[in-house]
Amino acid sequence: MNRFKFSRRSFLSGSLVASGFLLAPDIFKSLKASSMEEIEFAKRDPLKFAERNGIVNPIHKIILTGIVAPNSHNSQPWKIKILSDKQFELYADGNRQLLPIDPVNRQLYHTQGTFIEFASIASEQLGYDLKVQLFPQGIDKAQTIGTLPIAKFTLSDKRLNKLNSSGFYEAINNRQMNRGQYSGDYLGEELGQEILSLVKPNFASLVFVFGQNRIQEIIPMFQKSFEREISNPIQNNVSREWFRISKEDIYTKRDGITLEGNGLKQPILWMAKTFFMDMSEEGWNSEDSVKQANESFAKSLETSKGFVFLVSRGLDDAKSWVQAGREFGRLTLACAKLGIAFHTMNQAFVDTKESNETHDQFKKSLNLPKDARIQLAGRMGYAEPSFVSPRRELKEFIL
Ligand SMILES: Cc1cc2nc3c(=O)[nH]c(=O)nc-3n(C[C@H](O)[C@H](O)[C@H](O)COP(=O)(O)O)c2cc1C
Repeated sequence: MNRFKFSRRSFLSGSLVASGFLLAPDIFKSLKASSMEEIEFAKRDPLKFAERNGIVNPIHKIILTGIVAPNSHNSQPWKIKILSDKQFELYADGNRQLLPIDPVNRQLYHTQGTFIEFASIASEQLGYDLKVQLFPQGIDKAQTIGTLPIAKFTLSDKRLNKLNSSGFYEAINNRQMNRGQYSGDYLGEELGQEILSLVKPNFASLVFVFGQNRIQEIIPMFQKSFEREISNPIQNNVSREWFRISKEDIYTKRDGITLEGNGLKQPILWMAKTFFMDMSEEGWNSEDSVKQANESFAKSLETSKGFVFLVSRGLDDAKSWVQAGREFGRLTLACAKLGIAFHTMNQAFVDTKESNETHDQFKKSLNLPKDARIQLAGRMGYAEPSFVSPRRELKEFIL
């Protein structure tokens, strides 16, 4: 998803880049800074946001934390049915599927898992025990996704003493997808051990790739998968649909992906938004745009300081995708806690025929057994913080 495309490719490397004197005008006047700050605050510290805004119901607080979880394309495909002060159900939002790039809804289910994990972390932070029952009424068929609950949550009557805190809640503050360029040293096995001891995976396993040579072997595989996806207009149009360009769009729709989230900074950001983004279907899929996106992805990918793969074995169904999503949520928080930038890249692992081939190449390179399935993968390194992606208001999620 690392893509910013311009109808004139020379723009980034051309003379305009050097025009440091260009200042972005105040085009955001119509948006109150306070509302943007509030949206950012809600993403970073949802429990404090709730407190500040007089939200006292623990279930609301837990949901507010669930929605700041990582989720595919920031599509936020969650719906909540509140059953009582102690119980609620999570549903997938069938209107927010990304079928061309996620034909069997693998990532949609991963994204249910990340919500569940973040909700559990919130309840732990609040001192409640939260029971999670997966698929209490069975699993939806593809055509009826969103009809049956993914999970039913039951909150304990009493608050428990805050025991065994994972310390993950605090890590939510700076957890984000960081798609920019990384710097500093290569990461090593010691970090892998630290991540493992925080994530404590019990469903999947974490497979790390460290060392410059191995990283160089893996890079072309990620690159090829990215190129393949964006060269396919049907798949590439998913990003076009979810791209939010203007500040107004970003902070009124409060979902989707952005140039800011791809690491673009002022004044180039403003120039790109104002003059060079071509959002027409033709422009988006033009040779020039695809080439630009590839180059930009490559620039970031080349700076990877380590890779991590979340690998399951055996059954590969909706339930296992939710479980993998929970562990992926913890993985992203473990990286945040350790000050490691993280960027998940999943073009190689989607459920298309071409992708199955790249999946097998990765498996071979990682020496994984036959029944292994790479659920998700990402690159790691050190980087400055990136843009804080917004989330919609709580009421948008409630059925
Ligand atoms: C299942 C899943 C798949 C994802 N795949 C990608 C991906 O291929 N490329 C990417 O840049 N981000 C990917 N993401 C990250 C989301 O785009 C990101 O979580 C979302 O935009 C919200 O941003 P945040 O994580 O900074 O809050 C994925 C996230 C999830 C949960």
